[in-house]
Amino acid sequence: MDPHSHARPEEAAATHLSLDIHVDMAKQQINGTATYELKRQGGDSVVFDTYGLTIEGVSLGDGSPAPFTMGAPGILGQALQVALPPGADKVTIKYATGPNAKALQWLRPEQTGDKKHPFLFTQGEAILTRSWIPIQDSPGIRITYDAHVTVPPELMAVMSATNPQERSSDGSYRFRMDKAIPSYLIALAVGDLGFKATGKRTGVYAERGMVDTAAWELADMEKMVEVAEKLYGPYRWGRYDVIILPPSFPFGGMENPCLTFATPTIIAGDRSLTSLIAHELAHSWSGNLVTNATWNDFWLNEGFTVYFEHRITEALYGKDYNDMTSVLGYQDLLQTIAEIDSGKHPEDSALRLDLAGRDPDDGMTDIAYEKGYALLRLIESKVGRPRFDAFLRNYFDHFAFRSITTDTFTTYIRKELLGPERVDLDLAAWIDKPGLPADAIVPSSEKFAEVDAQLSRWSKGAPAKGTPAKDLDTQGWNTFQWIHFLRHLPQGLSGREMDELDNTFHFSKSGNAEIQAAWLEQCARNGYTKAFGTLEGFLTTVGRRKFLVPLYQALLTSDKGREAAMEIYAKARPNYHSVSVRTIDEMLGWKESKPTHIF
Ligand code: BES
Ligand code: ZN
Repeated sequence: MDPHSHARPEEAAATHLSLDIHVDMAKQQINGTATYELKRQGGDSVVFDTYGLTIEGVSLGDGSPAPFTMGAPGILGQALQVALPPGADKVTIKYATGPNAKALQWLRPEQTGDKKHPFLFTQGEAILTRSWIPIQDSPGIRITYDAHVTVPPELMAVMSATNPQERSSDGSYRFRMDKAIPSYLIALAVGDLGFKATGKRTGVYAERGMVDTAAWELADMEKMVEVAEKLYGPYRWGRYDVIILPPSFPFGGMENPCLTFATPTIIAGDRSLTSLIAHELAHSWSGNLVTNATWNDFWLNEGFTVYFEHRITEALYGKDYNDMTSVLGYQDLLQTIAEIDSGKHPEDSALRLDLAGRDPDDGMTDIAYEKGYALLRLIESKVGRPRFDAFLRNYFDHFAFRSITTDTFTTYIRKELLGPERVDLDLAAWIDKPGLPADAIVPSSEKFAEVDAQLSRWSKGAPAKGTPAKDLDTQGWNTFQWIHFLRHLPQGLSGREMDELDNTFHFSKSGNAEIQAAWLEQCARNGYTKAFGTLEGFLTTVGRRKFLVPLYQALLTSDKGREAAMEIYAKARPNYHSVSVRTIDEMLGWKESKPTHIF
């Protein structure tokens, strides 16, 4: 049972969706029909999830109208229940999206890179697809789909499916996804897009002005697919493309099948942030092929993917690279556990979650990623890599195109690996107890030890007491080393000390969003107001929640910072996607005079 869907698949489950929609960029509305093929096993109705949709009518396969009712609205939206006569196995729902469809972000031309055309993208995970398609919106239910989408003829549409590589003359596009996928992976983007191949199966979509830069940055995509296949078996989705979205995209990446959606903040100019693509690609196995059955099992998607991501980047970029990203992830994990521990839901630091009655988005933290990764790394260290790789490969094959619960996984791994190898491991504690078990492996990095050494040499602007910043030995440092440096600056730095750092290392002007964000966090924390203009610029253009949360949080540590946060947010909020808005509204205690994101 999925606590976040109204659907009752045991009575009637959708198996195929035919979508026929028009995207009205001017009205910021999608309307059309969703036609479902159904598998029925008793019962006299089928139930779909909706959120803020106007349902204009429902008909059966023979065109006759079907009576329907709408349930009471709540955090899950509204149930749409359609009465079915015996034998009816097809329904068509005519609908239109509402003004606050949470999955959709409509951008005006000035919010895009090229500034000439509007842009639309969708974000389905976790339970947002129901705000643009009436659907059985549970990751436990899988469907194939085809779609006919019409858009203004000057724009191009792409989906998580087979995609065009050129604009059509009339704004009409057809898509097919022949593999059964969960609803959160249905995705659409519309804009003035271009495409450039990076290999025979891989390529990049982006706004026209960005295509060449993006293709250069992501040149390793084809190799990533090859490495991934060598590890855990054939890539089963045909093409693997990436679309670089405008900066308001609320995530780093989203693993929509065939077409990863990604933030432009990974375009650093030096290919240093492409591990994010390795992560989204890895989801083509962990997540898209073998899917969490409910959002309580979210760690099955993300923990396995972080492990797989590390294996891809290790093969391509070596052990040092991996040590660094492992340490950064471990630092995030410890911080997340501390925050959860002192918060309203201390139980959220268990791998298996209990999110019933809550918006699942609130429980989706670094725990799933980094604690999940820590568990898999521990098991790998106990059985050895070759044995663990063989297990994982079989796991992906065994559960391919299925959605599984944590219990299904634990039963399987006990039988296939832990039992036969006589592994000494308290799996139950790892899965269900909050916090980090004592046997977790603590990662370390030689490259970071170099950084620590320089940090302790720094005189903090008082040369008599040590080495000035300009004389620190930072030559050849990579992006992760700079991030580590910035994360571990001493606390309570003065304006003069911050001046010294910025004048020497030019963090404020860094073209690398990760470095800039880590620096701006220090600026916010230390009340370094000189950088607040840059901070405002960053917060009003970038909508990636992973950057926004620590930056606003750092501002909130002082009264002056809080004032700045409120002022900046008032300007930035209209540029953010609903998932970022929800998070930051709550952090800042923001009250909108006119209600938004309700219907
Ligand atoms: N599937 C997630 C994004 C997501 C998570 C969307 C939860 C909605 C709810 C995606 O694969 C992801 O993990 N993205 C990360 C990047 C990754 C390198 C850790 C992100 O967006 O930062
Ligand atoms: Zn992920």
